[in-house]
Amino acid sequence: GKVAVLMGGNSAERDVSLRSGQAVLAALLRQGVEAVGIDTAHAFLPQLMDTRFDRAFIALHGRGGEDGTIQGLLEHLNLPYTGSGVLGSALGMDKLRCKWLWRSVGLPTPDFMVLNENSDWTSVVSQLGLPLMVKPVLEGSSVGISKVNTLEELQPAYQRAAQYQSPVIAECFITGTEYTAGILGTDPLPLIRLETPRTFYDYEAKYSENTQTHYHCPCGIAPELEKQWQQLVLQAFDTVGASGWGRIDLICDAQQQPWLLEINTSPGMTNRSLIPMAAREAGLSFDELVLRILSDTLP
Ligand code: DAL
Ligand code: MG
Repeated sequence: GKVAVLMGGNSAERDVSLRSGQAVLAALLRQGVEAVGIDTAHAFLPQLMDTRFDRAFIALHGRGGEDGTIQGLLEHLNLPYTGSGVLGSALGMDKLRCKWLWRSVGLPTPDFMVLNENSDWTSVVSQLGLPLMVKPVLEGSSVGISKVNTLEELQPAYQRAAQYQSPVIAECFITGTEYTAGILGTDPLPLIRLETPRTFYDYEAKYSENTQTHYHCPCGIAPELEKQWQQLVLQAFDTVGASGWGRIDLICDAQQQPWLLEINTSPGMTNRSLIPMAAREAGLSFDELVLRILSDTLP
């Protein structure tokens, strides 16, 4: 059968997704797998209902692709697909509900509050302290996120985040080091430590050609500690009902305490993306990684 590689879509991460999708498609074709790219921004249902497809590789990011909606459609079409199902995708897309859930089972995630246009900015700052991060709940790739250093910056940061038709949260800024942890099947991948001269690992630091971002993999922490963090990440992955593959971003404070930031149930597969980097460290080439993700769709 043929593989439908779903990419593009209408989310704010459309460009990233096209890069992920083209990379995945090229890897499949290179390995002799029959595959076709489908951009879900256009009328794609007739194309997807081609009975020669027997699986879908979801290379979509953000709403409409990573949030359970396309997953529900594929369930109805009886077409196996990569990654998390409806529930894990929907919860993973929603940073607020994800944090509620993690906190409720005792997993560490930075303190946060829901904002709205009537929020009392002074009391937000007195409760969470400064600096803090302001985030649209339903976006990825740091789209719409600001770091807020002063009370005056808070409302404009809220406005920026609110442009994305999404609830908005403020989250304590943890001073420390950012890491990311990939999961493949039920196995953790080696952690990557991120180092950027920018104020945080934002869209520019993630994707720009001339970014000064440094990626460290192996990440340099003691192997025992890395194993502990990987267990934490697997538990966080399972808590939201995620499966197949994914990536959890975390930040580690000066006391070596890891804090879970968010989960990505359809992680980037661009030439700058993190899962391919971690997989390479684990001995898997990009091509092997793509086949491995796809193989999890089979019973
Ligand atoms: N949201 C982007 C695609 C990522 O996590 O890699
Ligand atoms: Mg994300």
